[in-house]
Amino acid sequence: MAENAELNLPDGQTIVLPVITGTENEKAIDISRLRAETGHITLDPGYGNTGSCASAITFLDGENGILRYRGIPIEQLCAGSSFVEVAYLVIYGKLPTQTELDKFSADLNKHALIHEDMKTFFSSFSTQAHPMAILSAMVASLSAYYTEASVEQEAENLDLNAVRLISKIRTLAAFSYKKSMGQPFIYPNDAFSYCGNFLRMMFGVPAEEYELNQDIVDALNLLLILHAEHEQNCSTATVRTVGSSHANIYASVAAGILALWGPLHGGANQQVIEMLELIRAEGGDVDKFIAKAKDPNSGFRLMGFGHRVYKNFDPRATVIKAACDRVLETLGIDDPVLEIAKKMEEHALSDEYFVKRKLYPNVDFYSGIIYRAIGIPVNMFTVMFAVGRLPGWIAQWKEMMDDPTHRITRPRQVYTGDNATDFVPIAER
Ligand code: CMC
Repeated sequence: MAENAELNLPDGQTIVLPVITGTENEKAIDISRLRAETGHITLDPGYGNTGSCASAITFLDGENGILRYRGIPIEQLCAGSSFVEVAYLVIYGKLPTQTELDKFSADLNKHALIHEDMKTFFSSFSTQAHPMAILSAMVASLSAYYTEASVEQEAENLDLNAVRLISKIRTLAAFSYKKSMGQPFIYPNDAFSYCGNFLRMMFGVPAEEYELNQDIVDALNLLLILHAEHEQNCSTATVRTVGSSHANIYASVAAGILALWGPLHGGANQQVIEMLELIRAEGGDVDKFIAKAKDPNSGFRLMGFGHRVYKNFDPRATVIKAACDRVLETLGIDDPVLEIAKKMEEHALSDEYFVKRKLYPNVDFYSGIIYRAIGIPVNMFTVMFAVGRLPGWIAQWKEMMDDPTHRITRPRQVYTGDNATDFVPIAER
């Protein structure tokens, strides 16, 4: 039976609003008729209570620490799948058959190269340029080469543009690293898997054969799977917002990359390692930093802690923490910041400030330790997040475009400025 909510307004109006129920029994009040019928809007800074769309891609229960892509728990995907298979699942809504997976993988190989002219772009960036600045510019530039990315044709060409993006982002990321190292670009090679190819393009050199370490490939697959999709987070909401104006998919994804760069979002993974290194350099006193994070006047936060939605634990952090111990042991690495990170988690989780505010380690807290162990430089951490999140951005863009009822994103506001004021000529001011 249809459920309704009733809203009584101070001016005496009453409106009956439908209650929408999701497949996991989540409830939402549909306010889409509110302004037209009552002249009122809702106000929700940061959108903590606002659903911007209905979506069938990801289920996230922040109270119980549940994350599922297309219904499948991330823990199962981490244990039995690969990033390429998960990318297919997220975008197309079902696990691929072997034939579908083989074709998807072959298409990824086919589109791994970037246009040769694009290589010259890399030499125009300063050697100090952050790889996220380079990546976003390069992804936006792809739309200059693939003109069928106009939005009219794009929905039809989604498959093509999706594989281009997923494949080329890896090449662009590796090339930006090579440029920063002053080393020659290493072209992709079809003999390698998605992650293997990336590692070879990052760390291979022309003078010798690149030897792949399967433990490193597995660790990279795990991290990319865990980043693949996360419903309406800041960067995904950005991709949808930009796409809703019918900007092409490359422009929409480039905007998502820039949103991800912020330290409160994907940029936190770089900040976490920098924070842990600072604690180490200052003698390892985690309590000093915890005290600073609790001081409202310090402007300092424990990076890698807290989440808008997870209020119990972040299931991605649980998987990554366990993987951290495993990967470091397998690779024979003793990273002192892992001990500092664990100590910080233990102390923060027994501190009333963090307990009361339900602040737990998030996905970014331990991921950097694995990235560093497998050789990824610190300023590339957020680039890795972008490579991982790409299937989610594409899936959300596709879902929006496939929805005939989608509209341009255009929030309202409550105006708090001056009332009508006359212009005063400059000589009279
Ligand atoms: N350290 C110390 N205090 C914190 C932290 C933190 N990391 N995070 C939140 N708080 C406090 C905050 O000061 C506030 O306290 P009070 O109620 O006394 O004013 C309270 O907790 C609620 O914080 P909020 O800013 O209202 O929470 P939010 O949901 O708007 O922000 C967040 C979520 C992730 C931006 C925030 O927790 C944060 O800044 N964390 C550090 C950055 C980080 O790790 N980001 C990665 C997020 S997970 C991956 C991703 O999505 O990219």
